[in-house]
Amino acid sequence: MTIPVNRPYQPPFAQYQQYLQQAFDRNWLTNNGPLCQLLKVRLEEYLGVKNLLLVANGTLAMQLAYRALDVKGQAITTPFTFIASSSSLLWEGITPRFADIDAQSFNLSPAATAAMLSSDLSAEVSAIVPVHVYGNPCDVHAFEQIGAKHQLKVIYDAAHAFGIQLAGRSVLSFGDAATLSFHATKVFHTVEGGAVIFRDADAYQRAERMINFGIDNKDGTISGPGINCKMSEVHAAMGLAVLDNIDQILEKRQQNYQQYLRLLSPYLQTPLWAENASSNGAYFPILCPTAAAASKVMQHLAAHQVTARRYFAPSINTLATYQTLGYQSCPVSEDYANRTLCLPLYYDLTETEINFVAKLVLECL
Ligand SMILES: Cc1ncc(COP(=O)(O)O)c(C=O)c1O
Repeated sequence: MTIPVNRPYQPPFAQYQQYLQQAFDRNWLTNNGPLCQLLKVRLEEYLGVKNLLLVANGTLAMQLAYRALDVKGQAITTPFTFIASSSSLLWEGITPRFADIDAQSFNLSPAATAAMLSSDLSAEVSAIVPVHVYGNPCDVHAFEQIGAKHQLKVIYDAAHAFGIQLAGRSVLSFGDAATLSFHATKVFHTVEGGAVIFRDADAYQRAERMINFGIDNKDGTISGPGINCKMSEVHAAMGLAVLDNIDQILEKRQQNYQQYLRLLSPYLQTPLWAENASSNGAYFPILCPTAAAASKVMQHLAAHQVTARRYFAPSINTLATYQTLGYQSCPVSEDYANRTLCLPLYYDLTETEINFVAKLVLECL
């Protein structure tokens, strides 16, 4: 039995083909076609958000959000995340300033962020970029207050947070913008793709022009610089077919997540989930007691053809490329990066496979 860490969800081929056929029949393959338009409307309705702009991937979604919201200078962010959260900043000429994570939630700490803003470098900071790591919502109310107090933009990297509700409200509706990744390995996907959800319609409209070389869709005028990061009809077709099955995907992923939780949470720490928040079963992270234990678990799993991943390691503040301001210490993130593993979790993972993986993990402890 070989168990990968992730497997993309594939909708029934006929369902995908039925959407694809529409694009072929129209001979309309990209440039905001009917499938993209339909996917946008259906996603806004499903997620309970407005101003959702589809783009080519989750990294460009972040770069676009910074551009549309005029983020410059420096941005405070978390070092405990996938590299794209920080590389998107650096690529846009914005210097990431790393504040440490909260030991319970594994998310950017509002207290560490506030402390950083009282330092002498804070004049350069124009935004906060928290990440809802593993889909677990950040303390959005604390970041809203900090953002308002210091007049900073708040942009959430919500790549893992598809469908997450906080007290009945979409977590994607917090902040000036939230970005999603629709990469094939995500809970909802379009093979490659992503989206930005803007709070304000004017930022949405600016971004809509930017993703199309700066050209206005309606009158063809060019009012500023742009890039090409449009989603194609072929990608939107996959999104529509996946969305047709999303309730069943979320239900199965959550069952799998709960099964791991029952078996492993008595023995291992997992992130403390935000109060009143739903979950989407995107990842199952475990914090091993030591770095050596994490390596032992990885090796033991590998010996049985099971893959686990060091999500998220290394702590990004330790990478030479990200030390433009010198080394910024984040002890919790650095410690957790050495001890955290994500276990296999995907739609068609079976109960027997989860029991097998959990048994292997427990054998190492
Ligand atoms: C937290 C986070 N941010 C951003 C991204 C980038 O998304 P994409 O792969 O769609 O560019 C990812 C992708 O996996 C991610 O996990």
